[in-house]
Amino acid sequence: MKLIITKDSIEGGTKAFELIKDAMANGAKTLGLATGSTPLAMYDAMCKSSLDFSEMISINLDEYYGIDPTNAQSYHYFMQKHLFDKKPFKHSYVPNGLAKDIDQEVDRYNQIIAQNPIDLQILGIGQNGHIAFNEPGTPFNSLTHKVDLTESTIKANSRFFKDESEVPHQAICMGIKSIMHSKKIVLMAFGKEKQDAIKALVEGPITEQVPASILQDHPDVTVICDEAASAKL
Ligand code: GLP
Repeated sequence: MKLIITKDSIEGGTKAFELIKDAMANGAKTLGLATGSTPLAMYDAMCKSSLDFSEMISINLDEYYGIDPTNAQSYHYFMQKHLFDKKPFKHSYVPNGLAKDIDQEVDRYNQIIAQNPIDLQILGIGQNGHIAFNEPGTPFNSLTHKVDLTESTIKANSRFFKDESEVPHQAICMGIKSIMHSKKIVLMAFGKEKQDAIKALVEGPITEQVPASILQDHPDVTVICDEAASAKL
């Protein structure tokens, strides 16, 4: 695992963008993308760049379940706003949070992932060590699935909603096994709230109680964090 410590999230996002640029120069065709505040600086760098993504495929990690794509808190909306409106991809896949038949949607998403092997996966990390919406206890061999969000994640994500009661309690999420199949993984973490998660990811035992800890077993992971997030290492 390679660790890059940056001054702040802007520098971290720029580093992540450079890794995307290198991967594309080396033939990457499919990017796995994440939402949350963490990758914002990276998306900003992508939007400001002269890179063309119109021949690329993107596959997002997750989407809240029961939320309309036009809802400003949906991950569909987030991706349009922060990336796709400015940098369209050939195809961009995000789970359908309004799917009536959840099993069918899960199958559809697994097929998309199988047909488009991810060359570079971008990840953030939750304060409890979750990656995407794979909460503590998620089996390492999981594929796309419907998730019951934990209280801590609902609380942490409520900052984006008017109040906590509006945060969906479920999500559709790419599984840990699929994330681990990505050729390269870049995980970013910024701020002191992520200190414990980063320590557990980098130094802790590999356990399903800390989903991100499985990344220790991946052959090509770069962790980019700022000084605050890396302070306990
Ligand atoms: C959510 C997302 C994750 C993200 C995490 C951290 O739960 N599903 O993909 O990594 O939040 O969010 P933030 O980057 O805002 O700290």
